[in-house]
Amino acid sequence: MRLQRDELKTLMKNKLMSAGLSEEHADMTAEILTWSDERGYHSHGSVRVEYYSERIAKGGITVNPKFEWKETGPCTAIFEGDNGIGYVAATLATRKGIEMAKKTGLAMVGVRNVSHTGAIGYYTEMCAKEGLAAICFCQSDPMAVPYGGSEPYYGTNPISFAAPTADSRNVVFDMATTVQAWGKILDKKSRGEQIPADWAVDENGAPVTDPNKVNALVPISGAKGYGLEMLVDVFSGVLLGVPFGGHVSSMYHDLSVGRYLGHMIIIVDPDRFVGAETFKKNMSQTCDELNAIKPAPGFDKVYWPGERAELRKDKQYADGGVEIVDDIYKYFISDDVHYNRYDHKNRFAE
Ligand code: NAI
Repeated sequence: MRLQRDELKTLMKNKLMSAGLSEEHADMTAEILTWSDERGYHSHGSVRVEYYSERIAKGGITVNPKFEWKETGPCTAIFEGDNGIGYVAATLATRKGIEMAKKTGLAMVGVRNVSHTGAIGYYTEMCAKEGLAAICFCQSDPMAVPYGGSEPYYGTNPISFAAPTADSRNVVFDMATTVQAWGKILDKKSRGEQIPADWAVDENGAPVTDPNKVNALVPISGAKGYGLEMLVDVFSGVLLGVPFGGHVSSMYHDLSVGRYLGHMIIIVDPDRFVGAETFKKNMSQTCDELNAIKPAPGFDKVYWPGERAELRKDKQYADGGVEIVDDIYKYFISDDVHYNRYDHKNRFAE
Protein backbone atom coordinates (compact mmCIF):
# COMPACT_ATOMS: atom_id res chain seq x y z
CA MET A 1 0.00 0.00 0.00
CA ARG A 2 1.44 3.39 -1.00
CA LEU A 3 0.19 6.63 0.48
CA GLN A 4 0.82 10.29 -0.17
CA ARG A 5 2.33 12.30 2.68
CA ASP A 6 -0.82 14.10 3.77
CA GLU A 7 -2.92 10.95 3.70
CA LEU A 8 -0.42 8.98 5.78
CA LYS A 9 0.11 11.78 8.28
CA THR A 10 -3.64 12.35 8.70
CA LEU A 11 -4.33 8.65 9.26
CA MET A 12 -1.68 8.48 12.01
CA LYS A 13 -2.79 11.78 13.55
CA ASN A 14 -6.42 10.64 13.69
CA LYS A 15 -5.51 7.33 15.30
CA LEU A 16 -3.40 9.07 17.97
CA MET A 17 -6.24 11.51 18.64
CA SER A 18 -8.72 8.64 18.95
CA ALA A 19 -6.38 7.21 21.63
CA GLY A 20 -6.54 10.50 23.55
CA LEU A 21 -3.75 12.83 22.35
CA SER A 22 -4.61 16.46 21.72
CA GLU A 23 -4.77 17.53 18.08
CA GLU A 24 -1.57 19.59 18.46
CA HIS A 25 0.40 16.71 20.01
CA ALA A 26 -1.01 14.17 17.55
CA ASP A 27 -0.05 16.42 14.66
CA MET A 28 3.54 16.91 15.87
CA THR A 29 3.93 13.18 16.55
CA ALA A 30 2.46 12.14 13.18
CA GLU A 31 4.82 14.58 11.46
CA ILE A 32 7.90 12.79 12.87
CA LEU A 33 6.46 9.32 12.17
CA THR A 34 5.84 10.42 8.57
CA TRP A 35 9.35 11.89 8.36
CA SER A 36 10.69 8.45 9.39
CA ASP A 37 8.56 6.37 7.03
CA GLU A 38 9.21 8.56 4.01
CA ARG A 39 12.97 8.30 4.54
CA GLY A 40 12.70 4.53 4.77
CA TYR A 41 13.17 4.45 8.57
CA HIS A 42 10.10 2.19 8.68
CA SER A 43 11.24 0.91 12.08
CA HIS A 44 10.21 4.29 13.53
CA GLY A 45 7.16 5.19 11.50
CA SER A 46 3.65 3.83 11.08
CA VAL A 47 4.61 0.48 12.64
CA ARG A 48 4.69 2.22 16.06
CA VAL A 49 1.25 3.85 16.04
CA GLU A 50 -0.70 0.96 17.51
CA TYR A 51 1.75 0.66 20.42
CA TYR A 52 1.62 4.40 21.17
CA SER A 53 -2.17 4.34 20.93
CA GLU A 54 -2.37 1.51 23.43
CA ARG A 55 -0.02 3.30 25.83
CA ILE A 56 -1.90 6.61 25.49
CA ALA A 57 -5.29 4.89 25.95
CA LYS A 58 -4.02 3.07 29.05
CA GLY A 59 -2.62 6.20 30.68
CA GLY A 60 1.11 5.50 30.27
CA ILE A 61 1.54 8.74 28.33
CA THR A 62 0.28 11.95 29.96
CA VAL A 63 -2.09 13.52 27.45
CA ASN A 64 -2.04 17.02 28.98
CA PRO A 65 1.54 17.16 30.29
CA LYS A 66 2.87 20.08 32.31
CA PHE A 67 6.03 20.72 30.32
CA GLU A 68 8.59 22.91 32.03
CA TRP A 69 11.70 24.61 30.61
CA LYS A 70 14.30 25.22 33.32
CA GLU A 71 17.48 27.10 32.43
CA THR A 72 20.26 25.83 34.65
CA GLY A 73 22.99 28.10 33.20
CA PRO A 74 23.63 30.37 30.22
CA CYS A 75 23.75 27.43 27.81
CA THR A 76 22.22 24.53 29.74
CA ALA A 77 18.59 23.61 30.33
CA ILE A 78 16.35 20.80 31.45
CA PHE A 79 13.02 20.22 29.76
CA GLU A 80 10.69 18.42 32.18
CA GLY A 81 8.48 16.10 30.16
CA ASP A 82 5.89 14.95 32.74
CA ASN A 83 5.79 11.64 30.84
CA GLY A 84 4.13 13.35 27.90
CA ILE A 85 4.56 12.03 24.39
CA GLY A 86 8.32 12.06 23.76
CA TYR A 87 8.11 13.35 20.20
CA VAL A 88 6.45 16.57 21.32
CA ALA A 89 8.69 17.13 24.35
CA ALA A 90 11.83 16.57 22.25
CA THR A 91 10.58 18.85 19.47
CA LEU A 92 9.69 21.69 21.85
CA ALA A 93 12.98 21.26 23.74
CA THR A 94 14.92 21.38 20.45
CA ARG A 95 13.10 24.56 19.42
CA LYS A 96 14.05 26.20 22.72
CA GLY A 97 17.60 24.86 22.39
CA ILE A 98 17.91 26.39 18.92
CA GLU A 99 16.91 29.80 20.33
CA MET A 100 19.43 29.40 23.14
CA ALA A 101 22.26 28.32 20.81
CA LYS A 102 21.61 31.28 18.53
CA LYS A 103 22.00 33.58 21.54
CA THR A 104 24.86 31.95 23.42
CA GLY A 105 26.58 29.82 20.77
CA LEU A 106 25.81 26.58 22.59
CA ALA A 107 22.82 24.80 24.07
CA MET A 108 22.89 21.55 25.98
CA VAL A 109 19.32 20.53 26.66
CA GLY A 110 18.33 17.47 28.66
CA VAL A 111 14.78 16.23 28.17
CA ARG A 112 13.70 14.07 31.05
CA ASN A 113 10.76 11.91 32.08
CA VAL A 114 9.32 11.37 28.63
CA SER A 115 8.08 8.48 26.54
CA HIS A 116 9.93 7.27 23.40
CA THR A 117 11.31 10.06 21.18
CA GLY A 118 11.59 7.97 17.96
CA ALA A 119 14.02 8.63 15.11
CA ILE A 120 16.30 11.22 16.71
CA GLY A 121 17.74 12.41 13.39
CA TYR A 122 14.57 14.49 13.13
CA TYR A 123 15.74 16.72 16.00
CA THR A 124 19.32 17.17 14.81
CA GLU A 125 18.01 17.95 11.31
CA MET A 126 15.79 20.66 12.86
CA CYS A 127 19.03 22.30 14.06
CA ALA A 128 20.86 21.89 10.73
CA LYS A 129 17.94 23.60 8.99
CA GLU A 130 18.67 26.59 11.23
CA GLY A 131 22.38 26.61 10.29
CA LEU A 132 23.45 24.89 13.52
CA ALA A 133 25.35 21.66 14.19
CA ALA A 134 23.89 19.22 16.71
CA ILE A 135 24.46 15.91 18.48
CA CYS A 136 21.62 13.97 20.07
CA PHE A 137 21.42 10.87 22.28
CA CYS A 138 18.55 9.06 23.94
CA GLN A 139 17.98 6.05 26.15
CA SER A 140 16.06 2.97 25.19
CA ASP A 141 15.16 -0.09 27.21
CA PRO A 142 17.75 -2.75 28.05
CA MET A 143 17.96 -5.15 25.14
CA ALA A 144 21.61 -5.43 24.14
CA VAL A 145 24.24 -7.64 25.72
CA PRO A 146 27.26 -5.62 26.96
CA TYR A 147 30.53 -6.77 25.37
CA GLY A 148 31.46 -10.04 27.02
CA GLY A 149 28.08 -10.42 28.77
CA SER A 150 25.17 -12.77 28.25
CA GLU A 151 22.34 -10.60 29.62
CA PRO A 152 21.00 -7.31 28.27
CA TYR A 153 21.98 -4.09 30.09
CA TYR A 154 21.95 -1.12 27.68
CA GLY A 155 19.36 -0.32 25.05
CA THR A 156 19.79 0.36 21.35
CA ASN A 157 20.78 3.86 22.57
CA PRO A 158 20.88 5.91 19.35
CA ILE A 159 23.30 8.70 18.40
CA SER A 160 22.61 11.32 15.78
CA PHE A 161 24.54 14.31 14.53
CA ALA A 162 23.64 16.81 11.86
CA ALA A 163 25.30 19.74 10.14
CA PRO A 164 24.17 22.24 7.52
CA THR A 165 25.89 22.80 4.18
CA ALA A 166 26.05 25.84 1.90
CA ASP A 167 23.40 24.26 -0.35
CA SER A 168 20.12 22.43 0.24
CA ARG A 169 21.78 19.33 1.73
CA ASN A 170 21.82 18.61 5.46
CA VAL A 171 24.19 15.94 6.71
CA VAL A 172 22.16 13.78 9.14
CA PHE A 173 23.83 10.79 10.70
CA ASP A 174 21.43 8.74 12.78
CA MET A 175 22.08 5.27 14.13
CA ALA A 176 21.32 2.80 16.87
CA THR A 177 24.46 1.67 18.71
CA THR A 178 23.37 -1.92 18.25
CA VAL A 179 23.99 -3.69 14.94
CA GLN A 180 20.30 -3.08 14.25
CA ALA A 181 17.59 -1.02 15.91
CA TRP A 182 14.91 -3.19 17.57
CA GLY A 183 12.39 -1.52 15.27
CA LYS A 184 14.17 -3.08 12.27
CA ILE A 185 13.47 -6.51 13.78
CA LEU A 186 9.89 -5.40 14.43
CA ASP A 187 9.59 -4.35 10.80
CA LYS A 188 10.96 -7.72 9.56
CA LYS A 189 8.56 -9.51 11.88
CA SER A 190 5.59 -7.55 10.54
CA ARG A 191 6.67 -8.47 7.01
CA GLY A 192 7.19 -12.17 7.90
CA GLU A 193 10.88 -12.05 6.93
CA GLN A 194 14.03 -13.57 8.51
CA ILE A 195 16.84 -11.43 9.96
CA PRO A 196 20.58 -11.71 9.18
CA ALA A 197 22.49 -13.86 11.69
CA ASP A 198 24.64 -10.97 12.97
CA TRP A 199 21.77 -8.80 14.27
CA ALA A 200 20.75 -10.60 17.47
CA VAL A 201 21.13 -13.59 19.79
CA ASP A 202 18.72 -16.09 21.32
CA GLU A 203 18.32 -17.11 24.97
CA ASN A 204 21.66 -18.92 24.89
CA GLY A 205 23.52 -16.02 23.32
CA ALA A 206 23.67 -17.81 19.96
CA PRO A 207 22.96 -15.95 16.68
CA VAL A 208 19.33 -16.14 15.41
CA THR A 209 17.66 -15.55 12.05
CA ASP A 210 14.05 -15.98 13.23
CA PRO A 211 12.87 -12.57 14.52
CA ASN A 212 10.48 -14.36 16.90
CA LYS A 213 13.41 -15.99 18.74
CA VAL A 214 15.40 -12.86 19.50
CA ASN A 215 16.45 -12.54 23.15
CA ALA A 216 19.04 -9.75 22.94
CA LEU A 217 20.65 -7.45 20.39
CA VAL A 218 24.41 -7.00 20.05
CA PRO A 219 26.36 -3.71 20.14
CA ILE A 220 28.08 -2.52 16.96
CA SER A 221 31.77 -3.45 16.72
CA GLY A 222 32.03 -5.32 20.02
CA ALA A 223 33.65 -3.37 22.86
CA LYS A 224 33.63 -0.11 20.88
CA GLY A 225 29.86 -0.12 20.37
CA TYR A 226 29.43 -1.11 24.00
CA GLY A 227 31.38 2.05 24.94
CA LEU A 228 29.11 4.16 22.73
CA GLU A 229 26.02 2.64 24.37
CA MET A 230 27.46 3.70 27.72
CA LEU A 231 28.20 7.20 26.43
CA VAL A 232 24.56 7.61 25.41
CA ASP A 233 23.33 6.37 28.76
CA VAL A 234 25.71 8.62 30.71
CA PHE A 235 24.65 11.78 28.82
CA SER A 236 20.93 11.10 28.47
CA GLY A 237 20.37 9.08 31.64
CA VAL A 238 22.88 9.35 34.48
CA LEU A 239 23.41 13.08 33.85
CA LEU A 240 19.67 13.80 33.93
CA GLY A 241 18.80 11.85 37.05
CA VAL A 242 16.44 9.42 35.33
CA PRO A 243 16.65 5.61 35.57
CA PHE A 244 19.81 4.46 33.77
CA GLY A 245 21.38 1.34 32.23
CA GLY A 246 19.54 -1.82 33.20
CA HIS A 247 17.00 0.26 35.20
CA VAL A 248 15.52 1.98 32.14
CA SER A 249 11.82 1.06 31.91
CA SER A 250 10.69 -1.53 29.41
CA MET A 251 8.72 -0.41 26.39
CA TYR A 252 6.13 -3.11 27.03
CA HIS A 253 6.19 -3.87 30.74
CA ASP A 254 3.24 -1.81 31.99
CA LEU A 255 1.51 0.49 29.55
CA SER A 256 -0.44 2.28 32.27
CA VAL A 257 2.63 4.01 33.75
CA GLY A 258 5.13 6.54 32.40
CA ARG A 259 8.53 5.56 31.01
CA TYR A 260 10.72 8.27 32.62
CA LEU A 261 13.18 8.25 29.71
CA GLY A 262 16.03 10.71 29.11
CA HIS A 263 17.08 12.42 25.88
CA MET A 264 19.91 14.93 25.33
CA ILE A 265 20.59 17.39 22.52
CA ILE A 266 23.72 19.52 22.19
CA ILE A 267 23.43 22.38 19.68
CA VAL A 268 26.41 24.42 18.48
CA ASP A 269 26.48 27.62 16.45
CA PRO A 270 29.38 27.23 13.96
CA ASP A 271 29.65 31.02 13.88
CA ARG A 272 31.35 30.83 17.30
CA PHE A 273 34.07 28.65 15.83
CA VAL A 274 35.20 28.71 12.19
CA GLY A 275 32.40 31.08 11.09
CA ALA A 276 28.95 30.11 9.79
CA GLU A 277 29.62 30.58 6.09
CA THR A 278 33.01 28.84 6.12
CA PHE A 279 31.54 25.92 8.06
CA LYS A 280 28.69 25.44 5.60
CA LYS A 281 31.00 25.83 2.59
CA ASN A 282 33.40 23.25 4.02
CA MET A 283 30.53 20.86 4.76
CA SER A 284 29.41 21.15 1.13
CA GLN A 285 32.99 20.48 0.05
CA THR A 286 33.13 17.44 2.37
CA CYS A 287 29.96 15.97 0.83
CA ASP A 288 31.21 16.62 -2.73
CA GLU A 289 34.59 15.07 -1.99
CA LEU A 290 33.01 11.99 -0.40
CA ASN A 291 30.71 11.55 -3.40
CA ALA A 292 33.73 11.81 -5.71
CA ILE A 293 35.66 8.96 -4.06
CA LYS A 294 35.95 5.90 -6.28
CA PRO A 295 33.58 3.24 -4.96
CA ALA A 296 34.93 -0.09 -3.69
CA PRO A 297 33.92 -3.30 -5.48
CA GLY A 298 30.23 -4.02 -4.83
CA PHE A 299 29.35 -0.37 -4.09
CA ASP A 300 27.82 2.06 -6.55
CA LYS A 301 28.89 5.26 -4.79
CA VAL A 302 30.16 6.76 -1.54
CA TYR A 303 27.23 8.54 0.14
CA TRP A 304 27.37 11.25 2.82
CA PRO A 305 25.30 10.41 5.93
CA GLY A 306 21.64 11.16 5.28
CA GLU A 307 21.98 11.10 1.50
CA ARG A 308 20.47 7.65 1.12
CA ALA A 309 17.52 8.60 3.35
CA GLU A 310 16.80 11.58 1.07
CA LEU A 311 17.10 9.36 -2.02
CA ARG A 312 14.74 6.79 -0.46
CA LYS A 313 12.21 9.55 0.15
CA ASP A 314 12.43 10.78 -3.45
CA LYS A 315 12.15 7.22 -4.78
CA GLN A 316 9.11 6.36 -2.67
CA TYR A 317 7.24 9.40 -3.96
CA ALA A 318 8.38 8.70 -7.55
CA ASP A 319 7.02 5.15 -7.10
CA GLY A 320 3.59 6.42 -6.02
CA GLY A 321 3.92 7.23 -2.32
CA VAL A 322 5.25 6.03 1.02
CA GLU A 323 5.11 2.26 1.36
CA ILE A 324 2.99 1.07 4.30
CA VAL A 325 2.37 -2.53 5.40
CA ASP A 326 -1.22 -3.52 4.40
CA ASP A 327 -2.20 -4.66 7.92
CA ILE A 328 -1.09 -1.31 9.33
CA TYR A 329 -3.23 0.48 6.75
CA LYS A 330 -6.22 -1.72 7.67
CA TYR A 331 -5.72 -0.75 11.31
CA PHE A 332 -5.51 2.93 10.38
CA ILE A 333 -8.82 2.88 8.51
CA SER A 334 -10.56 0.78 11.20
CA ASP A 335 -12.41 2.25 14.19
CA ASP A 336 -10.16 0.31 16.58
CA VAL A 337 -7.93 2.34 18.88
CA HIS A 338 -5.66 -0.63 19.61
CA TYR A 339 -5.81 -4.43 19.95
CA ASN A 340 -4.39 -4.80 23.47
CA ARG A 341 -1.34 -6.53 22.03
CA TYR A 342 1.57 -4.86 23.80
CA ASP A 343 0.84 -4.54 27.52
CA HIS A 344 2.98 -6.78 29.75
CA LYS A 345 4.68 -8.39 26.77
CA ASN A 346 8.37 -9.09 27.06
CA ARG A 347 10.78 -6.57 25.57
CA PHE A 348 10.73 -8.32 22.22
CA ALA A 349 6.93 -8.18 21.86
CA GLU A 350 5.49 -7.63 18.39
P1 NAI B 1 20.64 2.74 9.74
O1 NAI B 1 21.48 1.55 10.00
O2 NAI B 1 19.62 2.65 8.69
O3 NAI B 1 21.58 3.96 9.38
C1 NAI B 1 22.57 4.43 10.29
C2 NAI B 1 23.34 5.59 9.68
O4 NAI B 1 24.24 5.09 8.72
C3 NAI B 1 22.44 6.60 8.96
O5 NAI B 1 22.85 7.89 9.31
C4 NAI B 1 22.69 6.35 7.51
O6 NAI B 1 22.62 7.55 6.76
C5 NAI B 1 24.10 5.80 7.51
N1 NAI B 1 24.31 4.88 6.41
C6 NAI B 1 23.78 3.63 6.29
N2 NAI B 1 24.22 3.06 5.15
C7 NAI B 1 25.03 3.96 4.56
C8 NAI B 1 25.81 3.95 3.35
N3 NAI B 1 25.82 2.93 2.51
N4 NAI B 1 26.53 5.06 3.08
C9 NAI B 1 26.52 6.12 3.90
N5 NAI B 1 25.82 6.19 5.05
C10 NAI B 1 25.10 5.11 5.36
O7 NAI B 1 19.94 3.25 11.09
P2 NAI B 1 19.57 2.42 12.40
O8 NAI B 1 20.77 2.23 13.23
O9 NAI B 1 18.81 1.22 12.02
O10 NAI B 1 18.56 3.44 13.13
C11 NAI B 1 17.29 3.69 12.53
C12 NAI B 1 16.53 4.72 13.30
O11 NAI B 1 16.16 4.22 14.56
C13 NAI B 1 17.28 6.02 13.60
O12 NAI B 1 16.44 7.07 13.19
C14 NAI B 1 17.44 6.05 15.11
O13 NAI B 1 17.38 7.33 15.67
C15 NAI B 1 16.24 5.27 15.53
N6 NAI B 1 16.37 4.67 16.87
C16 NAI B 1 15.66 5.23 17.90
C17 NAI B 1 15.70 4.67 19.16
C18 NAI B 1 14.92 5.28 20.30
O14 NAI B 1 14.81 4.64 21.34
N7 NAI B 1 14.39 6.46 20.17
C19 NAI B 1 16.50 3.49 19.45
C20 NAI B 1 17.26 3.03 18.31
C21 NAI B 1 17.18 3.60 17.07
